[in-house]
Amino acid sequence: MEGFTTLTVADVEHDTADSALITFAERLPFRHGQHLVLRREIDGEEVRRSYSLCSIAPDGALRIGVKRVPEGLMSTWLTGEVRPGDEIEALAPSGNFTHEPSADAAERHMMIAAGSGITPIFSVMATVLATQPDSEVDLLYINRASNSTMLIEDLEDLRDAHLGRVRITYAFTREDGDAELLSGRPDQNRLEQLIDAGLIRADVDHAWLCGPLALVEDARSVLIDRGMPSDRVHLELFGTDGAKAKRPTTVSAQSTNVVATGRATLHGRQSGFEVREGESILEAVRRVRPDTPFSCQAGVCSTCQARLLCGEIEMDVNYGLTESEIARGLVLTCQSHPTGDDEIVVDFDV
Ligand code: FES
Repeated sequence: MEGFTTLTVADVEHDTADSALITFAERLPFRHGQHLVLRREIDGEEVRRSYSLCSIAPDGALRIGVKRVPEGLMSTWLTGEVRPGDEIEALAPSGNFTHEPSADAAERHMMIAAGSGITPIFSVMATVLATQPDSEVDLLYINRASNSTMLIEDLEDLRDAHLGRVRITYAFTREDGDAELLSGRPDQNRLEQLIDAGLIRADVDHAWLCGPLALVEDARSVLIDRGMPSDRVHLELFGTDGAKAKRPTTVSAQSTNVVATGRATLHGRQSGFEVREGESILEAVRRVRPDTPFSCQAGVCSTCQARLLCGEIEMDVNYGLTESEIARGLVLTCQSHPTGDDEIVVDFDV
């Protein structure tokens, strides 16, 4: 699928007071843990946002979970105004928060989700349970309070459908949990205690972490310290807490001083581009290829990823690619700036 396609809203379910589950009528193939980039014009402004699919891959109904964020143009529309029959544009499902499921695998998975971070985790969890009958899943699910907990009915249905293979532990930051350990902010010390208590397992085949930057980084370092191989710890950030993220404000840089030239392949067609002083590779490519995919422009969603075939770049921040993906030449073009004299050659058809 090239570029945006139109999706039709088939169903809207109000999950909590400030969240909704939206199912689309169309079917597109996807992998568990992937997201959709949605695009809509709101008040004369093009708005793009990524929302994770919370459905069973590869061919379940396309369903996203959306939590309303203060002053969020897209999330306010999706949680309050959207109705069945409404249309919205979307890119093909994408994202690297996934793995290769195998029907023969007898794996243990540890999942930690916070808030709306449950949406891709639910997709991974439901897909693993449905496609790998000998695999087991532990989930630690952290929320402010029980009434803000998304997908709770779906999770309980999953537990009932796969009795003995699913363990779900709920923790709350502003409400008492089932035990003292399950109440309050899950900082690194608390995460260590949860491992000691057996509520987080580090002796698993895959760990999946999705939530705010601080939690994900703390959980990752605790699991690796306890022996998890880093390439088995999968990360997805929902917000970076403002830390270090850089978001360009405009596509056309004010400077016209060209610092590098390059070629970009997208949808099988190659285009030449010029990088102006201060701008990213994404901004430079978008001037000649407006169909270049992107969403967050903050180094989180990976929608803008491409393979660097030639030249040298430096990324401002990277919250979307693993070390092995970087070793394979992938870069986040929204964060990439040329650092050498060589031509930059990137391939978005990866
Ligand atoms: S657009 Fe999201 S990481 Fe580049």
